[in-house]
Amino acid sequence: MATAGDIVTNAVSAYTDGVPPASAFPTHPKTWHYVCPEADLARGPKGRRLFGHDVVAFRTEQGNVAVIGARCSHLGANLACGKVAGETIQCPFHNWRFGPDGTCVEIPAEKKIPAFARQHSYASVIRHGVVYAFNGPVALFPLPFFADENPSDFVAAPAFSFTADASWLMVASQGFDTQHFESVHERRLLRPPRLERVSPFALRNRWEAEIVGVTFRDRLLRLLVGTTVALDIWNWGGGGIVVRAAFAHAYSRFLVFFRPLEDRRTHFDVHVFAPRGLAALTLPVRRLFTRGHLESEAAQVRGTEYQPSHLIGADAGMIECFRWLAAIPQTPCRPGINGEHPVQASACRRSTP
Ligand code: FES
Ligand SMILES: [Fe+2]
Repeated sequence: MATAGDIVTNAVSAYTDGVPPASAFPTHPKTWHYVCPEADLARGPKGRRLFGHDVVAFRTEQGNVAVIGARCSHLGANLACGKVAGETIQCPFHNWRFGPDGTCVEIPAEKKIPAFARQHSYASVIRHGVVYAFNGPVALFPLPFFADENPSDFVAAPAFSFTADASWLMVASQGFDTQHFESVHERRLLRPPRLERVSPFALRNRWEAEIVGVTFRDRLLRLLVGTTVALDIWNWGGGGIVVRAAFAHAYSRFLVFFRPLEDRRTHFDVHVFAPRGLAALTLPVRRLFTRGHLESEAAQVRGTEYQPSHLIGADAGMIECFRWLAAIPQTPCRPGINGEHPVQASACRRSTP
């Protein structure tokens, strides 16, 4: 039954009214990104290309982890090729040193530090042995996880990654695309999906379906976990998807962090979870199923693009998603709004083992 906060998908009549133009969306939405396994930092700074910038993650000698802009504010050398020196990272070119908050703290050849000597800094968090960064100095919402569940009760499989030949807008809207549940996933809906704007940063969709697919994976799924599935999908910030699937005899949980690439494609990093204890032994199988599921979907959505004037009534769930995506705040708003607590850059925390 829909609650007061729900948006029933078939309630959109003038469906093209208010559909945002492509220019309404940020190129790189402010959200959390997968950076690298924490263990990689034992070998030194790690460079990544994220949200249109070169960034570097490093662990200081005292064990703090930071993510800052990688292009040195002096003459642009890549700090990922530098080294950690105490609580700083040292540029490989003229040895300028920068702290975890991006501040230049030492120029060996000169005492005065100019104002431009400063790197961008990014809020970061370590969870399940993985470093995540937000594309801004202050995170606008916490690193997503499954609603009402504690990260320390779960173990995570090593992330897997792939690239989809689709724009990030199409990827972000997939969890709200009612038509594709049947056409791509071969799930027959048992009742209309329920969409809910949980906060300015989170859109949720819940739906129940019968598994009617004829693929080997679906036949095995019906045999092992039952014939129906209830999906609970959250999109956080436009770039993080949290999926919990309740089958008759099992749960499946995974997080997807995705980001736009500069060639209009979209990069995925996926984490699959299992409860601690005996269920953790099933993690490799869960990872295998999830990977097969997502990669086959990526192949099917190849080449898709946002075309607002081509949306129809059956796309109402996607339309609601696009409206929400265009309205996500991209700068800090009131602290604590809807339970969000900004996370400052350089305050890298371990929330779970
Ligand atoms: S380019 Fe980094 S110190 Fe000169
Ligand atoms: Fe899908």
